[in-house]
Amino acid sequence: MNLSYFRTIGWVSLLMVSFVLAPTLNADDDGQKHHRRERRHTEDNHSGYRNLKPVSNSTYADQCGACHFAYQPELLPAASWKIILDGTDDHFGETVDLDEGARPEISGFLASNGADKSSAKLAGKIMNCLGGSVPARITDIPYIRRKHHEIAPEVFQRKSVGSLSNCIACHRTAAKGEYDDDAVSIPE
Ligand code: HEC
Ligand code: HEC
Repeated sequence: MNLSYFRTIGWVSLLMVSFVLAPTLNADDDGQKHHRRERRHTEDNHSGYRNLKPVSNSTYADQCGACHFAYQPELLPAASWKIILDGTDDHFGETVDLDEGARPEISGFLASNGADKSSAKLAGKIMNCLGGSVPARITDIPYIRRKHHEIAPEVFQRKSVGSLSNCIACHRTAAKGEYDDDAVSIPE
């Protein structure tokens, strides 16, 4: 018996050990992932909470959800919401006629719940990428654009989608404030 014999035995046993151990290690990893996911879902208003808050103001939901999905205020900084509210007579080519008395309520709701006031993870990413700029649209936010740049242009021509502004077409859980990539399903 020479040294190379021992070396071979050494490698063989090392291989065997990794074959036996590998599945166990993987199972463990899955278990941990599962655990993490559950925790993420139960996370609430702590720092960096997971989902945006579902829209809680019914005046906002009615008036600003009449033509499109009622976007969560946490998707834009308060300064952007102010520009949007100040421009309701030319709102992306449409006129938004707010009910009497609705304006101050909507304005207050948007001012106190913007991305800059939020500790949701997504709001943090939005604020970080803006670097002080004030976008007129959610779909102008660099982080949002980056997340969607791989979607083929023909997808937006589908009647079921229309444009990137139509979050709820693909993010089926958007009304719950959940924009997670594992809850996305692009309609045909
Ligand atoms: C009369 C219909 C109508 C009403 C009511 C309306 N909007 Fe809009 N909104 C539009 C249209 C049209 C667009 C442009 C959509 C597009 O480009 O695909 C738009 C776009 C937006 C966008 C930009 C979406 C993006 O692309 O990122 C925001 C934000 C928005 N609206 C907020 C509001 C708010 C806040 C209110 C209430 C004060 C409101 N809207 C009420 C018609 C409306
Ligand atoms: C045509 C379908 C479609 C539309 C419309 C759409 N999204 Fe998405 N979105 C996706 C897909 C697909 C992904 C996953 C990209 C990836 O794999 O990272 C995504 C990813 C995201 C992410 C990142 C999620 C994560 O876990 O990393 C956010 C945030 C998001 N979208 C927000 C929005 C918002 C807000 C709107 C509306 C203004 C919107 N999306 C409109 C399809 C869409």
